[in-house]
Amino acid sequence: MSLLRVENVTKKFGGITANQDVSFEVGAGKIVGLIGPNGAGKTTMFNSIAGYFPPTSGDIWLNDQKISGLTPEQCAHAGIGRTFQVARTFTSMTALENVMVGAFLINRDVRTARRNAIDFLNFVNLGRFKDKAAGSMTISEQRRLAVARALAVNPKLLLMDEVMAGLNPTEVKDMVDVVLKIRDRGISCLIVEHVLEGIMPIADAIVVLDYGKKIADGKPEEVSNNPQVIAAYLGEE
Ligand SMILES: Nc1ncnc2c1ncn2[C@@H]1O[C@H](COP(=O)(O)OP(=O)(O)OP(=O)(O)O)[C@@H](O)[C@H]1O
Ligand SMILES: [Mg+2]
Repeated sequence: MSLLRVENVTKKFGGITANQDVSFEVGAGKIVGLIGPNGAGKTTMFNSIAGYFPPTSGDIWLNDQKISGLTPEQCAHAGIGRTFQVARTFTSMTALENVMVGAFLINRDVRTARRNAIDFLNFVNLGRFKDKAAGSMTISEQRRLAVARALAVNPKLLLMDEVMAGLNPTEVKDMVDVVLKIRDRGISCLIVEHVLEGIMPIADAIVVLDYGKKIADGKPEEVSNNPQVIAAYLGEE
């Protein structure tokens, strides 16, 4: 059985249908890419899975727990971690304090939260920056910091929204290495990404959205040869 099951999810914002009847699954320990042109409904799907905006219809399951309709905090407790497309880094706080914000979501004990936060900073290779103001770190470092903060809720599934955008090739590789390490810990990764050279080589499956609908779902090589997918991407330019 899959870890995450998205079943017939539709999300409407007034007259806009941001997701229409979308179904897909993420297996335990897998890396799945969620791709598609701008405005395709990728971040909307993350907001449904993580409890920020409940779906208009359809259900979302994490193992045997129905998580659609839960609050963000309840989703975090259930095992969903996420990063945000629009950075929510507290720039005047240190790297350690930023990760502790994540850790506090599931554990109110300061010493435990602090110890866990240090572990996660080390995990994303930012241990030496723990006392540095987040706002003075590079974009690449801030992205890894956001991943550490999302990991601090001890997720079963980590949602990453464009964590590779704007990074140079070396920095993309650093992030890819972090993603692989996360997967090797047994945490599934659902990754929204426009940087296809980052996600395609490591994904077990790719789900493609276009105008809110799923247009393809399969292995990276199948999806990248799919005429509908090629048309959706060419149409973007
Ligand atoms: N909170 C909201 N209120 C109203 N409309 C929204 C809201 N969030 C998203 N939308 C609309 O839903 C559609 C899908 O947006 P979404 O942000 O999910 O796309 P996306 O695939 O993440 O795009 P991008 O690649 O540019 O980040 C867009 O038309 C957007 O304007
Ligand atoms: Mg988005």
